Amino acid sequence: VGKPAALKSGTPRDISRLAVIGGGLMGSGIATAALSAGYTTTIVEQSAEAATTARERVAGNLASAVKRGKITEEARDATLDRLTTTDDFDAVADADLIIEAVFEESDVKRAVFDKLATAARPDAILATNTSYIDPTTFTSQVPNPERIMGLHFFSPAHIMRLVEVVRTPDTHPDVLATGFTMAKKMRKVAVLSGICDGFIGNRILGAYGRMAGYLLEDGASAAQIDGAMKDFGMPMGPFEMFDMAGLQIGYSNRKREAATRDPQMRYSRIADLIVEDGATGQKTGRGFYRYEQGSRAALP
Ligand code: NAI
Repeated sequence: VGKPAALKSGTPRDISRLAVIGGGLMGSGIATAALSAGYTTTIVEQSAEAATTARERVAGNLASAVKRGKITEEARDATLDRLTTTDDFDAVADADLIIEAVFEESDVKRAVFDKLATAARPDAILATNTSYIDPTTFTSQVPNPERIMGLHFFSPAHIMRLVEVVRTPDTHPDVLATGFTMAKKMRKVAVLSGICDGFIGNRILGAYGRMAGYLLEDGASAAQIDGAMKDFGMPMGPFEMFDMAGLQIGYSNRKREAATRDPQMRYSRIADLIVEDGATGQKTGRGFYRYEQGSRAALP
């Protein structure tokens, strides 16, 4: 197949120090993958408490790798030694590449990129892990826009292999090539994506999720649908997967696209109603399923 044309002229840059903004589900997973690949990594969170939680998440990811026999305890300790967690945004100053993984809200991301515009080195590569938002909507004010790209990981980011390298109209080929090289070092498979609704993986999953929602409305339970899809060969059922990823991300996206949605299209409101009831999946202990002390119970 060969390299896509956009990469042929690109030369990857040397990257050794990474910063991840936001150490939630994705940021901590991305940091785990980066640390495991040998990168010195800083997670920047919005409070000291959240920074501590982020560190615990990374430590938990590495502890489960030890349990599964993937790494030794010595390797875990050496990996964790490369991690810094902080609520001080200025810690991004020495990063070669910065990955934004804060809430999927344009305003929150825009505020982060506004800060990066001055706090990051002018040549630092800036990447966003956004699931759905066109990166240029919150990066338009950042100097040197040729250093911006999407790096869209999938959850759990330290385990899932696919990374979408999203090219904006300005992204320099060297920046794209750096994304590909870094993903390879993290033992992931990178694919190039243009800007479109949901990029590649989530665009396909959107249709899958809609159909799963119709089945739910038509009377099947989440557990029945999940069970059938696992027997079909999927590693997880759709509702288990949505609960794990967090229902808030799809909800925010459906709100954004509401104005342009085809009114003739069947629209299942079940996922919206769950979020509006204050439940967003595993993080809140409630979603399509209830989660109690690590175990899961099907809703009636
Ligand atoms: P999350 O809610 O688990 O984590 C977001 C983190 O960002 C929180 O820990 C929060 O404290 C932190 N944060 C918020 N504002 C901040 C700021 N100004 N400075 C520093 N930290 C800040 O969310 P999650 O699921 O990790 O998603 C993050 C991003 O990754 C979103 O853009 C989402 O669309 C994307 N994504 C999510 C996937 C998933 O399966 N959950 C998969 C792929 C991408």
